[in-house]
Amino acid sequence: MNLHYQTNDKGHLAIGGADALDLAYEYGTPLYVIDEMRVRDNYRRVYKAFSGEYKKFQIFYAAKANTNLAVLRILEEEGSGIDAVSTGEIYTALLSGFQPERILYTGNNVKTPELEYAMQSGVRINVDSTSQLKRLLEVPGSEGLKISFRVNPLVGAGHHDHCITGGKLSKFGVMEEEAVRVYKLAQELGFNPVGLHTHIGSGILDPEPFKLAVQVLMDVAGRVHSEAGVNFEFIDFGGGLGIPYTPDEPLLEIKTFAKEIVGLFKDKLYQYDLGNPTMCIEPGRYLVGDASYLLTQVNTVKQSYRKFVGVDAGFNTLLRPTMYGSYHHILVADKPEAAPAGNVDVAGNICESGDLFARDRPLPEVKEGDILAIMNAGAYAFSMASHYNSRPLPGEVLVKEGQTDVIRERETFADLLSKQNLPRRLLK
Ligand code: LLP
Repeated sequence: MNLHYQTNDKGHLAIGGADALDLAYEYGTPLYVIDEMRVRDNYRRVYKAFSGEYKKFQIFYAAKANTNLAVLRILEEEGSGIDAVSTGEIYTALLSGFQPERILYTGNNVKTPELEYAMQSGVRINVDSTSQLKRLLEVPGSEGLKISFRVNPLVGAGHHDHCITGGKLSKFGVMEEEAVRVYKLAQELGFNPVGLHTHIGSGILDPEPFKLAVQVLMDVAGRVHSEAGVNFEFIDFGGGLGIPYTPDEPLLEIKTFAKEIVGLFKDKLYQYDLGNPTMCIEPGRYLVGDASYLLTQVNTVKQSYRKFVGVDAGFNTLLRPTMYGSYHHILVADKPEAAPAGNVDVAGNICESGDLFARDRPLPEVKEGDILAIMNAGAYAFSMASHYNSRPLPGEVLVKEGQTDVIRERETFADLLSKQNLPRRLLK
């Protein structure tokens, strides 16, 4: 089994050295629990694998996966940069201590005021279209600005159609075949294009499409260098590195992956005489996905036409199963190693039939009051959470060597309403 978890001497699930049951009882459920060392270990594993092959290497953590300030601080300490896709993410990254030059802003369908904000913040701007480029020109201070372009290499991959961002159906980036023209246009407009970027999709376990995209992008780099005279300071291959969600999904062998990717990269640098630009990648899920659990309590065991295990979390806290049909492994926190006793549907508490964490899932005997731990809840869980059904958002706890810190307070009902105003005429 390639899923990562630990147990303690009681046989309970342990997260960062703390007993999952204690955490659930102390802080209440639903609750996200993040294992600090796992985030650090994930980062170090990727960094070591790539930088061992090519020294000028930089990770831009894709903040959208998890924007908790503590998570950002941890990754800043590790030396990461940030892939920010909105001005809100820029704001959050700056607040958590990232230097602006370590933030790459890759917006799509951005408004001019957002470009202004990015410019004023001093972050690097990665341009998605000629429309955006022309509007950037209007922003005071943009003259001579160093920029990069996101290019769609016509290769896409991902765990679900929604998460494939390369290819003919994708809204992202400039077309591969117009790259030279776009870099020339940028120069004519007085910009200084120094970077090249792509991101082909998310949740990729098969290295092949990623390798193909690297080759296509490097061919683009070669053409842009020879035809537009651009000397690249960095080339960024985006994120997408997958993690196993089911027990028998493979692990991405990061050392082999890095070796192959860097090998292709270096060959093409040499072939096209591109010097030695910084190589960048933007993992989100790989760094934080398996570092967090969503703890939830069973409140109802119900035999209807099927057997339902009803819990106190729902798709408002983890949308992935409902939105993408994603599998998330579930452990019973006091007996993660117990053998399955039968198949059940694990249902949330949202008023929709699609609110299921698992259909027909083999689970050990589960009774009301038990704590379940939904795995791989570190990426795209809280960051996609909502107030649907007027449910306040859960809290988040960070654990390191058994020490726990509340890094996000559980919301209250008042938080649900804090931004609403009743017009005077409706006041009672
Ligand atoms: N860079 C860019 C420009 C991106 O758009 C993304 C993800 C990443 C990097 C990081 O991808 P990762 O390494 O995390 O796969 N909500 C979906 C994932 C959407 C990802 C969107 N972009 C999910 O829950 O699977």
